[in-house]
Amino acid sequence: MSEVSLRAITPEDLPTLFENQYDPASATMAGVPIREEADFYVRRTRTEADPATDTRAVMVDGEMAGDVVSWTDESGRHVGYRIAQRFWGRGIATTALRLFLAELTDRPLQADLLKTNIGSRRVLEKNGFRLLAPDELPADAEPTLHYFRLDS
Ligand SMILES: CC(C)(COP(=O)(O)OP(=O)(O)OC[C@H]1O[C@@H](n2cnc3c(N)ncnc32)[C@H](O)[C@@H]1OP(=O)(O)O)[C@@H](O)C(=O)NCCC(=O)NCCS
Repeated sequence: MSEVSLRAITPEDLPTLFENQYDPASATMAGVPIREEADFYVRRTRTEADPATDTRAVMVDGEMAGDVVSWTDESGRHVGYRIAQRFWGRGIATTALRLFLAELTDRPLQADLLKTNIGSRRVLEKNGFRLLAPDELPADAEPTLHYFRLDS
């Protein structure tokens, strides 16, 4: 059984995070664009410097497997995560999000995901998030997305 833990992200982690987001399968699943190197480093360095954003490296048996992130926008506080493909299907995202939720005090927490992203949906459900009902959706809700929320 692998041991999953979280730690702060350091500048030395950025190449691994770059590679993780450069995977077309991962980008398609998440529905986010792949960033080229210069663009990625500028954006991620800004993210890491933002005091309103929380990030953690996901460690598996001492190796960095991905990251978890929480940020705020006009619709509230959000959570997201990405695990490198070679670690998929081992319960790592589920455990990483559970550990992150124990550290984060913000509630409610939201997660918006492509309706096709079955794996991410399961990660959220297993961590107590619920799918918003049609009458709870934001006015500008995207028809391709599911909106999940953790209230407490
Ligand atoms: C989504 C993602 C985080 C899942 O990571 P993971 O470590 O493989 O997830 P887990 O092993 O904890 O799996 C959780 C559940 O999802 C299921 N699952 C995972 N990937 C799946 C897939 N591609 N299709 C169907 N089910 C999947 C697992 O079987 C498990 O369900 P179960 O407990 O009912 O058996 C990972 O695939 C990833 O990083 N994808 C790209 C980025 C992304 O989509 N991030 C989320 C953006 S909203």
